[in-house]
Amino acid sequence: MCGIVGYIGKGVAQEVLLDGLRRLEYRGYDSAGVAFHEGHQFFMARETGRVGNLAQSIQRKCSSASLGIAHTRWATHGPVTVSNTHPHVSYDGKFIIVHNGVIENFFSLKRFLSQKKIEFTSETDSEVLCNLIAYNYSILQSDGDGFIESVRMALSKCSGAYGIAVICLDYPNTLIGARRGSPLVVGLGEDANFIASDASAFVGRAKDAVFLKDGELAILTGTDFRITTSEGQEAQAVTQPVDQISEEVDLGDFDSFMEKEIFEQPLALRNTLRGRFGDDGTTAKLGGLEGHQDELRNLDRIIFIACGTARHACMVGEYLIERLARVPVEVEHASEFRYRNSPNVGNSLVIAVSQSGETLDTLEAVREAKTKGLLTLGITNVVGSTLARETDGGVYQRVGPEIGVASTKAFSSQACLCAMLGLALGRMRDLSPVDGRSIVDALNGLPNLVSEVLQQGEQIRELAMKYANAEHLLFLGRQSLYPVALEGALKLKEISYAHAEGYPAAELKHGPIALINTECPSVFMVEGTELSAKTIANMQEVKARKGPVIAIVPQSVEIPEGSADDVFRLPDAHEVVRPILANLPLQLFAYHFARLRGLDVDKPRNLAKSVTVE
Ligand code: M6R
Repeated sequence: MCGIVGYIGKGVAQEVLLDGLRRLEYRGYDSAGVAFHEGHQFFMARETGRVGNLAQSIQRKCSSASLGIAHTRWATHGPVTVSNTHPHVSYDGKFIIVHNGVIENFFSLKRFLSQKKIEFTSETDSEVLCNLIAYNYSILQSDGDGFIESVRMALSKCSGAYGIAVICLDYPNTLIGARRGSPLVVGLGEDANFIASDASAFVGRAKDAVFLKDGELAILTGTDFRITTSEGQEAQAVTQPVDQISEEVDLGDFDSFMEKEIFEQPLALRNTLRGRFGDDGTTAKLGGLEGHQDELRNLDRIIFIACGTARHACMVGEYLIERLARVPVEVEHASEFRYRNSPNVGNSLVIAVSQSGETLDTLEAVREAKTKGLLTLGITNVVGSTLARETDGGVYQRVGPEIGVASTKAFSSQACLCAMLGLALGRMRDLSPVDGRSIVDALNGLPNLVSEVLQQGEQIRELAMKYANAEHLLFLGRQSLYPVALEGALKLKEISYAHAEGYPAAELKHGPIALINTECPSVFMVEGTELSAKTIANMQEVKARKGPVIAIVPQSVEIPEGSADDVFRLPDAHEVVRPILANLPLQLFAYHFARLRGLDVDKPRNLAKSVTVE
């Protein structure tokens, strides 16, 4: 979602800011802009479309400034136009702001400012905040802290979420950042300081980072910085080495990050699994949960909260944990959990799952759970993310940066961690050492099985070619393959824009079967359990109505003649790893299907990698 970069120092701001924006491109955006403070003026450039467009237009401005702010915008208030693109300048020309998040009371603030005859040039809530800062500045007795005070006053009037960077014409040596709800991190370099929505924007330039807490302001000069609370008291700055929180990302020989991330899953899973089994080889040992053994032993239920792909991984976890540990599990859309009057019964554990650790819906759901006194654990990929910092404990996925908007390796590792959690909880309860050992063996064997499936990628490309003209597809599976069906449909629609839906296979006859015709392929995942025959019967129902059927089937399951048009074989495997294996051909199918349509799989329209608004 929107990205912020700010720079103050002795170097050339233009170079640093454009480089930072490029590193934030993966978050998803639809326009980009930059502003510099140079001499006694501002220079600003804004373009719709890619950062490359912006770079071209700045070349013409040739700024040598050493203070500036930049932004990639993912439209919330107002369409994708140059005038809505950030940065925004205040009505008096003194302040420039970039903003992530949503100022929910922007309309009443705008009305207040309009009554003061202040005019607006955009439809954004961000310009309202910028004008409010300028208005405060105009009414304050301007002493040394007028800039900071105006920002603080304006923010105290805002409801909603913000991460901002602001510069002021009267303060050529000051850059201010502030956050509430949207992430913001300060980077500390030599003779230069940075502010960004994501530390990857200043990797290689800053040595240390300070994550701002909600309500905090950062006041930066080129050589110094301080953090204050929203009330203006000095706050403690906890620094972390940048190289521990962010890793360089490189496409290598792949055409897209999505393809690279699909194919690095064997390695990603090895990293997820490494060192996480007990010495007797019958259970999982998740370090981040060690301090909570008593609570885990006495659990009455688990509530997973997550969004999108992460929620599908949690649904896989629901089936596995209930089966292995006999603990009741609920999976909630984070955005729904937050506003529900969910009864607080027994010892409930909330597990929030988020690749980025910055999804606002998930974070707000965690905050709500904590308000209700629930124990919260996090499963996230990003070290030092807000989720990692705000939960009571948790587990890192360790799969390396996921850049493709379509989440792939993160799903596999989240589902794998859910299986490990099920194993650990099961062994604290009824699960026998023999069953525990067979699950440990299955999980340890997973990376090799993943490699085996990915080696058959060419067969999936051919299938994608065969069905490339389909505009409607169904994905179907039972039990732990039902969330895989949901995930297959999500993956396809988000990067190819074809319409796809996922259902439990048996649900087909309760409505979706009406969609079946020769143009609507159905992708069935067959379990390899006693339920296989029932799923095969569902396939035959589709065939009887002339619907094309693609079956994804374990090696040992026989598919009767005429019940599928195409069969993709998976290795026979333990039930705990089957959903992860069955999802791989669906990832590849979506990838090839979208590429055959000439689409950019890493930057699908309207989507953002990290969704930091509600
Ligand atoms: O960073 P998170 O795991 O919290 O992200 C959650 C969803 O926004 C994300 O999984 C989204 O659905 C992906 N684009 C799916 O590929």
